Parts: sequence; structure tokens; C-alpha cells
Amino acid sequence: MKIFMTPNKAGTKISKYIYGQFAEHLGRCIYEGIWVGEESPIPNKNGIRSDVVAALKTIQVPVLRWPGGCFADEYHWKDGIGPKETRKQMVNTHWGGLTENNHFGTHEFFELTEQLGCEVYINGNVGSGTVQEMQEWVEYMTMNGTSPMADLRKENHQAEPWNVTFFGVGNESWGCGGNMRPEYYADLYRRYQTYVRQYGEEKIYKIACGPNIDDYNWMEQVLKIAAPFMDGISLHHYALTGAWEEKGSALNFPEAQWWSLIESAQKMDELITKHTTIMDKYDPEKRIGLIVDEWGSWLAVEPGTNPGFLYQQNTIRDAMVTAVTLNIFHKHADRVHMANIAQTVNVLQAMLLTDGENMIKTPTYHVFDLYKNHQDGERIDSYGDESETISYTISKKSNQLTISICNFSLAESKELFFTGSSDMKLVEAKFIAAKVMDAHNDFDHPETISVEEFQEVTIVNETIQTIVPPMSVVTIVVE
Ligand code: AHR
Repeated sequence: MKIFMTPNKAGTKISKYIYGQFAEHLGRCIYEGIWVGEESPIPNKNGIRSDVVAALKTIQVPVLRWPGGCFADEYHWKDGIGPKETRKQMVNTHWGGLTENNHFGTHEFFELTEQLGCEVYINGNVGSGTVQEMQEWVEYMTMNGTSPMADLRKENHQAEPWNVTFFGVGNESWGCGGNMRPEYYADLYRRYQTYVRQYGEEKIYKIACGPNIDDYNWMEQVLKIAAPFMDGISLHHYALTGAWEEKGSALNFPEAQWWSLIESAQKMDELITKHTTIMDKYDPEKRIGLIVDEWGSWLAVEPGTNPGFLYQQNTIRDAMVTAVTLNIFHKHADRVHMANIAQTVNVLQAMLLTDGENMIKTPTYHVFDLYKNHQDGERIDSYGDESETISYTISKKSNQLTISICNFSLAESKELFFTGSSDMKLVEAKFIAAKVMDAHNDFDHPETISVEEFQEVTIVNETIQTIVPPMSVVTIVVE
């Protein structure tokens, strides 16, 4: 494949927020996966597991979405502040019907984001919460000086306000967040967002609940009624192997499901293109961001685990889904301002899996690591040969070009030639690859898939030449 790069032509900035994460009160994501409590024998800082924080810092998480998901529209933030012993318990009806002790609340979330060095995306409760409750949460988090909520925060030992970069007004309001019609939600959005007040200096980026998958009518109606009141609108699309009701297994799957899962992930391109066409009608200036705040593979839970916990293994196939999807987001970087993979630990397409004190990094984690150089890079246009099993991104930052290639062929290596830049020197080349479709890491074999040095790259006469193995993701950096 011959590809001509145009590094001297101005490209669209790839927002670092495309590399966002999502952590919900679901299964073992928050509890066990992130929060173990100060008294835990698992090494932690202020109750937050240190191994998880260290691993997530390596992939440079830019932003974390919390507390849900469906959980967000049942969450009452005042139950999660103050002394832990007196916090009100609740039932997490969506996810296993467990009793939630609210030990991980607003203060613990900000402690986590501070340890990660990342920004904050709070999802507010429209489905079962009041306007007052939402207004007071924003005041509690961001108000400096004296006010009822700022004073309450100080009583809870947090003198300084925090910074909230993104605020979502409801989640899946067409489904678990209230089963609303788009016209009704759009009016509610206008009302609730009014009280997401600007107490702090940093402007809060307000996100409306957008459509599920290809619900173009939802996008159309919500924008028609509420476009001037939002900074972003969400989109949810999960990659499936087939019908929603018959989720394919994460391991030992047939070859047909290698292809069907990747094809389902590739649908993201069509969805963004069509939703963008509607957005262009109401927002031709492209002011409003498309926020893909839930994406990733949704597979059958691991046998023997609680179906409400959504715990699934993660293979080289999920790595393909990740690379293909990130490449699609990069392609649409003018509209996609943020994306948040679901979810960070132990739920759906996780970065990390934990078992007691042990933690492993998944193939998905390694793609986020291989791709991190694209964060805030400038996407470089290219043209030339195409292949049905190759997906790639080229971006530029300072004087470096980063080329990431995913070859999702099951058996064929691909030779690629990249030209268009002179005097290039290789800075580094790394990759992950597998020999079997469901290659994965587990607690006995944590390094089956890990990032290795990539040798199959040479630069000859202004051409980068590389041979990318099947079932692999490669990143080459030149300057
Ligand atoms: O990510 C799991 C769930 O998927 C979220 O809670 C919900 O928003 C979506 O349906």
C-alpha cells in the first residue's frame, strides 16, 4: 500500500478529550476497581488503589466521566458527602440491585481525578433529580466564597472549589434516564441547564443527552429545540457481534464474530457522518461538539459472574475495535470533541481488570498507550491505496509525525509505504500483536499481550516502509 502524507497542510486538531474514560457505579468498576477504602490491605492513597492510578497515569487519561451512565439518573449527590458512616445507603437498581453505601462520592471522585491529573466530566440527574438538586451540586463543587453549598463543602473539609470542565444534563434520557420523547427532553434540557450556573472562572461545557446509535429523529428534535443552549450533545454506540439480545462471548468466539464485532465498531463512521449532517443544519459553525461518551465492545459477561456487573474479558479483537474507533474519531475531529470509552476498570471494554490485589492491563489499555501521542496532535491528511483490513491515523505534534496502523486481517501481513516528508528519522516504533483471535491477558498470564519494540520499519529515501503483521496495532514516530 502506498500512502502519500500531507504534513505541510494544516490539519484538524485531535482533541485529547477523545481519549476520555468513563467510570460508573456499576459492578466492580468504582468499588474494588478504583475505591478500596483507606483501611484496605490493597495499597491505596486515601482509599484509591495505587496500582490502578499508576497504570491510568501512563496512558494520560485527559478526562473522566462519572457517576454514570444509567446510575447518574438515580444518583442523589447529597447522599455521598459527609462522614462515611452516616452516608445514606441506596439500591443500585440498574446494576445487580446491590446496596450502594455511597462511600465513593463527590470528594472521593475529585481525589481520584487529582491523583490522575485529569479533568472532570460530571453527569447530572434529570430522570429522578430536581432542578434544585442539580443547581446545588454545581454550586457545591464550583462556588468560591460564601454560599449555602460552598459553606457545606467547607464543613466537609474542602475549602477550595473544584473545577468542573464538562457537565452532562441527563444520560440516555430516551431510555434508562426517563424514557422521554425528544421534544420533552429538549424542553427539560433548556430548563435544567439554566441552573448549571457559572460560579467558577472556568466555563462549564454543557452536554445535552443525544441519541442512541442511529436515532436521527432524536438528534434533529433536540437540536431544533435546544441547540443554542448546549456546547455538546452525546452519542452512544456500542460494538456488538450481532443482535443486542444475543451478545457474543469475549473468548472462544467463531471467526464470523471477529468480523461482525469489527464491522459493528466501523459503523461509528456512518453514525458520526449522518449525525454531523443534522448538526451542520443547526450549527453550521461547528460550535457544538459531538460527545461520544459511551463506546466500546459490549460482549457476554464472563461465565459465572453476575450478569448485572458487565464483567467481560478483553482480547486482541477488542484492541482492533479500539484502534479502528479511535481512527474514526480522529477522522471526524472537527465534530468529535470528546469520547469516553465504557468503562475504565472491570466493566465492559475495560482498560484494567482486577482480582483482589492483582491488576492486569488489557489489550485495549495497550492501544490507548500506543495512541497517546495523537492527543492534541494535528491530524494529517493522506491519500493513496486503501485496504479493507487496514485502518490508520497520521498526526503531527511539534516536529514529530506519529503513524498508528491497525491491521485486522487474521492472516495477512501488509506492506505499507508512507511518503511526503523529507529527512525523517525514526524516533520509536512499538506494537502489540497476537497469533490467535482471542489472545488476552489474565491473572496467570498478564503479559500475553504487551507493548513491544517494532523492528519492521525502515526509512529509505524519504519513504517509511513497514510490514504490519496480522492482528496487530503499530505506532511509528518519526521526526
Ligand atoms: O455503560 C453501561 C451502560 O450502558 C450505561 O450505564 C448506560 O448509559 C448505557 O446503556
